[in-house]
Amino acid sequence: MSNDYLTIALPKGRLLEQVTAFFAKYDITIKEESRKLDYYDEKNKLRFLFVKNSDVPVYVNYGVAALGISGSDVVYESGFEFLKLGILPFGTTRICLAGFEKDKDLYFKAYSTGSFVKEIKIATKFGKFTTTYFNEKDIPVQIIKLTGSIELAPILGLSDFIVDLVETGTTLKENNLSVIEELGKTQVEIIANPSLYKLDYKKIDNIVTIIENMK
Ligand code: PRP
Repeated sequence: MSNDYLTIALPKGRLLEQVTAFFAKYDITIKEESRKLDYYDEKNKLRFLFVKNSDVPVYVNYGVAALGISGSDVVYESGFEFLKLGILPFGTTRICLAGFEKDKDLYFKAYSTGSFVKEIKIATKFGKFTTTYFNEKDIPVQIIKLTGSIELAPILGLSDFIVDLVETGTTLKENNLSVIEELGKTQVEIIANPSLYKLDYKKIDNIVTIIENMK
């Protein structure tokens, strides 16, 4: 039955709620049923996969899903190449360097005088982005790769700073950390597997048009 369906990988968690609400407005149903990890919208012939955020690009890259909805940060970190078919009108987030307020001045002083004598330790999920960002500024960094609860790292002395997504700022605030510098912005992208797109572009364009028109 699944051959008739267009498979779309969706990220579980906060973004999934927004995606579900967005699609529901246009009569596309996404239902997470208890622990079941996929859902068929029979009316629109869509199959949704509920996967971990960072795994969306993996499913699309290997062709298990034709389309994926993913943060641009996660797509960039994956290192895979996709066709980018659209941007959703929600979920834009800041990617920030954060740490203790007391280290802010130290950071900016060293930044402006170029006097970073030793590497700064940064805990992050976004190793590729962070390395590239600071390399371009000639600031030596040591990346400590974590996959969640990044805010704990400076508190426990595992790192000097973190690079992470900041949406409401609540997580930083509740852990006595502050934004030191905004490094960029992320957006929610519709990505496609290039080979599957060629095979099935009519069906894919159709769904992307529906999504685009939702804006
Ligand atoms: C993300 C991010 C921050 C938090 C920021 O984590 O990594 O920890 O949200 O949001 P806020 O500014 O609204 O508090 P997520 O909830 O995805 O969980 P994680 O710790 O597993 O990364």
